[in-house]
Amino acid sequence: ALRGVVALDGPSGTGKTTVARKLAAKLGAGYLDTGAMYRVVTLAVLDAGVDPHDTDAVVALARSVRLDVATDPGRPEARLDGTDVGEAIRTPRVDAAVSAVSAVPEVRDLLVQRQRTLIEEASRDEGGIVVDGRDIGTVVAPDAPLKVFLTAAPEVRAARRGAQDTAAGRESNQATVLASVERRDRLDSSRAASPLRPADDAVEFDTSELSIEQVLVALTELAGTRG
Ligand code: C5P
Repeated sequence: ALRGVVALDGPSGTGKTTVARKLAAKLGAGYLDTGAMYRVVTLAVLDAGVDPHDTDAVVALARSVRLDVATDPGRPEARLDGTDVGEAIRTPRVDAAVSAVSAVPEVRDLLVQRQRTLIEEASRDEGGIVVDGRDIGTVVAPDAPLKVFLTAAPEVRAARRGAQDTAAGRESNQATVLASVERRDRLDSSRAASPLRPADDAVEFDTSELSIEQVLVALTELAGTRG
């Protein structure tokens, strides 16, 4: 059985990633950003000039690249063929193409296998792991002792994403961000392979009117009783 695994799913802009990293640090657990893995493959696709909708070419590329992620919540890291791509994977270009790449079942199989290995290692050897994604509670770690699904109103999510862009020194326009967030959620929720949805036994939180700190307090308590 998995020990100390927290599955944290939901659309973007719910505070999921911030909460997941802080929770992991607080619990002395690892942190796995599965979205970063789909983003790295997407970056490789774009850099190679491959059409994100050309499934065969996307699968071939996904199988040929080397993808590494670090699970330290203080310093998450993503590498493509040895190069640090932590910044390059968070651009509007990758945002726009990642849903097409992550809808490909073979790409998912490849990454889910990697994710399960990392989760099992952390569950066995470390203080557990907080896993941030879309299908963690439903597909990747259905045995996780604690599953959480975060939601928030679309406008709130777009505002949070916009604030992240501004903080990172990227230009951002509220209407464009809202359209991009809504498009990605629609694609992620409607795809055939592992769509974004809460597991039946997930605890759901609407974070529209909650601070990161409030969500963190609630999850720390839950992790104490179920982790
Ligand atoms: O979490 P993040 O916004 O970085 O995820 C980027 C994209 O990766 C999502 O919009 C989704 O298409 C895909 N993804 C996924 N399954 C996961 C994590 C992310 O399909 N477990």
